[in-house]
Amino acid sequence: MTTTQSMNEPLSSLTWGEDRLILLDQRLLPESIILLDLYTAEEVWDAIHTMKVRGAPAIGIAAAYGVVLGARRISHDQLDKDHTDNQQWLNQVLEICKYLATSRPTAVNLFWALDRMKDTATSLTQVGHNILELNQALLAEAQAIQLEDEEVCRLIGEHALPLFHDGMGVLTHCNAGGLATAKYGTALAPMYLAHERGIQLKVFADETRPVLQGARLTAFELQQAGIDVTLICDNMAGMVMSKGWIQAVIVGTDRVAANGDVCNKIGTYSVAVLAKAHGIPFYVACPLSTIDLNTETGQEIPIEERPAEEITEGFGKRTAPQDIKVFNPAFDVTPNEYVTAIITEKGIIQAPFKENLAAIFSK
Ligand code: MRU
Repeated sequence: MTTTQSMNEPLSSLTWGEDRLILLDQRLLPESIILLDLYTAEEVWDAIHTMKVRGAPAIGIAAAYGVVLGARRISHDQLDKDHTDNQQWLNQVLEICKYLATSRPTAVNLFWALDRMKDTATSLTQVGHNILELNQALLAEAQAIQLEDEEVCRLIGEHALPLFHDGMGVLTHCNAGGLATAKYGTALAPMYLAHERGIQLKVFADETRPVLQGARLTAFELQQAGIDVTLICDNMAGMVMSKGWIQAVIVGTDRVAANGDVCNKIGTYSVAVLAKAHGIPFYVACPLSTIDLNTETGQEIPIEERPAEEITEGFGKRTAPQDIKVFNPAFDVTPNEYVTAIITEKGIIQAPFKENLAAIFSK
């Protein structure tokens, strides 16, 4: 089922609705605000895969609810009526997690959230709860992941805010805003907090080819919040920097490697190089759940490649010759030497990143 939401209500990328996940279809923004009712793990897998929900933290939260929905179906269809077959339930839940993990490869928050759901299911099964209690525990865990993300994003904003001052020009790429998280966003969190506190920032949003998250989502959500935002094409960033209009760049990320290499939306690397050439700080904002100490360098991060049509027909009509060869990676890696600082809920991390990233986890 789909519902249309009014343009004036604050938008939430996802909410839990008793027996279903209510998801804002981000592919249709900003033209239509359509809420989708998802009842199965398969529907959640498809929503992540086709980017109806996108952005690293939001993908993780959606997947966690996908586990809840999948687990509820097991208890109805495949277990004995007394709901006592815990091990069978656990095996099925682990299968659902494995399945949801195939929806997209790059954002580590997906795997982080699924690990939390697996740990919850495994530890409570061992304690001997019945299936109904186990299903409730899974829902509680998914809701905790969502609530924590909201709190974490606000803290990221608090830590980042001192880096920004009144009148500053700030460039961002892709969408690392409220739509990509439970609320506030990561890179956009300081912009929301600045706005709340009367600090005027002049935000420049790269449109972010080919899926246009900057134009369709960042420009949209900042404009809705009354924040000064100017949309530019990706290839204008250098010119805007050379004019002296940008004093900081801030972006989100899908995965930070242990050495501080940052994987984010395709085009981020070019922005980082341009920022360095112009002596502009390049900040990355993310929760600790996006930092993957098990991945040593950015070269190990799996980069998703998406359909050619995103490039050849992305504007609703053909904009390239038929049968043209296309390369469409969804993400790139910015080497750590371009990164001024990584802003997390636990504070600001600077080089040497290998040591300082490891240390933040033991704080
Ligand atoms: O392909 P997307 O839209 O899921 O890519 C999103 C990004 O690259 C974001 O910058 C990243 O996930 C951080 S969101 C807080």
